[in-house]
Amino acid sequence: MQREREFAEKLEQILPPRLVDFLKRAGEKAAERNEQAYIVGGVVRDLLLCIDNFDIDITVEGNAVALARELSRSAFDRITVHKQFNTATIKFDQWNIDFVTARSEIYEYPGALPKITPASLEEDLKRRDFTINAMAIGLSGKNYGELYDPCNGKTDLQSRNIRILHEKSFVDDSTRIWRGLRYEQRLGFQMEQRTLELLIRDIPMLDTVSGERIRYEIECILKEKYPERVFSRAFRLGVLGSLNTFIKFDTRKEEWFLRAREMNCPNVPSDLLYWLLFTYELDMENREKLIARLHLPKQIAQALRDCHAIKERLEMLAAPDITNSQIYRLLCAYSPSAIIANIIAVEEDESRKALNLYIEKLKNVKAIISGSDLLKMGFEQGPQLKELLDAVLDARLNGKALTKEDEIAIVKKMLAG
Ligand code: CTP
Repeated sequence: MQREREFAEKLEQILPPRLVDFLKRAGEKAAERNEQAYIVGGVVRDLLLCIDNFDIDITVEGNAVALARELSRSAFDRITVHKQFNTATIKFDQWNIDFVTARSEIYEYPGALPKITPASLEEDLKRRDFTINAMAIGLSGKNYGELYDPCNGKTDLQSRNIRILHEKSFVDDSTRIWRGLRYEQRLGFQMEQRTLELLIRDIPMLDTVSGERIRYEIECILKEKYPERVFSRAFRLGVLGSLNTFIKFDTRKEEWFLRAREMNCPNVPSDLLYWLLFTYELDMENREKLIARLHLPKQIAQALRDCHAIKERLEMLAAPDITNSQIYRLLCAYSPSAIIANIIAVEEDESRKALNLYIEKLKNVKAIISGSDLLKMGFEQGPQLKELLDAVLDARLNGKALTKEDEIAIVKKMLAG
């Protein structure tokens, strides 16, 4: 394997001193145990690109969990051991530091989770997704600061290429198709020519992967600074079509994503809003198919359904003589995220005005009198009570009740009527 010592200095220049101390401690502890520890994958890529990365992966030629346990004992850091994967995570300041034993992976069939066996660092690097993610830097003993780069990741970093390590890479694990597009757009790199050919050839392999794994990749994209760039590229290459042939991602949708970020609405999680815009044009049948394919959690699935229901009410919301209370009744059953998504996506000005009015004003309007006030006035529990309260709220929404006395007068008038 190619080795270079220059990275001892780089580690110390670029990473914060507390993290460097931690990594040195991990390397020394591993050496005491006659093992070798390395930082690997994304953190090495980002270190060489001088980008911050708070998820640090440490690969150990030895027993990763035992090493993490020893380290956490001496420094009282918070450790979580993932027994089923035989890995451990130490939470140290703002960093999540994962400890994994070096391993090789065998994929028995496309879409399968890999069979794992302990292996050397070199084998571990060669089972990875892209050359730029297949580098390590030694932390232990005389290996401290040495770069391990068996797949020439550094050259690809310099020439800004995303390159797979072997021809079957996307067949083994087609989630790498989404990952590759994510790195390409995040880093402003390009797919190397052969990688791109294989990516396009292997798009059908995405059908072999479980919904949860695809959803995880989409969620990672939604956390990117500019998710729309990844989706747009995925659409042009035909990758998005593997998810659902009716999802489009054109410049109009790119603008929606931009607007969603600019709006920065409190209480509306940005990834939920992205989901709604991402799938906005799907009809009921295709929306349900996507929910089932990706096993979308209940909260997201409900918001998608709300968004669709509102879409079907847009025409009514655009009626020229619509009252505030009618707007309220048309929208009050739906989540704010679904309403905001429609504000962003709707083309018709009048419907947008109604949606905005609801979100900015009507949504929070309350009557002054309450059910208990009416009970005190001698009314009995039952449907009539609700009708009266609804009528009072409608009057308030329409500006016909300004004080408590106005509301009581409305109640009395209704009863007389
Ligand atoms: N990896 C892989 N194939 C996958 C997933 C991950 O080979 N399908 C390897 C890559 O070497 C990657 C490392 O595992 O760098 C860690 O995975 P992950 O944390 O998902 O990637 P990072 O590059 O660390 O993080 P990010 O994508 O957020 O930059």
